[in-house]
Amino acid sequence: MKLVFATNNSNKIKEVSNLISNQIEIMSLKDIGCKEDIVESENTIIDNAILKANYIKNNYGYDCFSDDTGLEVDFLNGRPGVYSKRFAGENSTDELNMEKLLECMKESNNRNARFRTVIALNINNQVITFTGVCEGEILKQRRGNNGFGYDPVFLPKGYNNSFGEMSIIDKNKIAHRSKAVKKLINYLNKFC
Ligand code: IMP
Repeated sequence: MKLVFATNNSNKIKEVSNLISNQIEIMSLKDIGCKEDIVESENTIIDNAILKANYIKNNYGYDCFSDDTGLEVDFLNGRPGVYSKRFAGENSTDELNMEKLLECMKESNNRNARFRTVIALNINNQVITFTGVCEGEILKQRRGNNGFGYDPVFLPKGYNNSFGEMSIIDKNKIAHRSKAVKKLINYLNKFC
């Protein structure tokens, strides 16, 4: 079975390919020749995930899944949430986003946070969503260089290593996206 994962983020493709059966061939946006930027214009991660999956199905005809992830920080009333990618401004970088987060959290003792991923699957003209959550806390400084995004400042609950200090394999055992992907895979197994 061929399925498009509506992303060009090679870290995400690697994470998901590590988890998914090799009966399912994952294609990236680049693989299908999709060069346009799909604007994540919705106000919730679920609606953004659905928007991207529907865009590929409607414009390219492939069954597709897409993910959207937000980092929800209690001290910031759930922000940056759906705006995690652009927390420090449009065209921001992971470095600048982490810097802004650490700055906003400078005075805070409540460092509880969670990553939430929603995957939207558009298959056989039906849309289904799967959610994965990973609880943890925001560190006072970066630790480790692995992964991407906010990984170096996120300490998952019950662990001593930040996501930035974990291998992909260890991160995948507990992370938000892999939890959502496992639900997706259980569902897709019906088609294999
Ligand atoms: P997206 O929805 O996957 O594009 O993610 C939105 C923002 O959250 C981006 O800034 C990502 O870098 C960040 N993000 C998404 N997934 C992860 C993760 O697994 N670890 C750390 N940051 C992430």
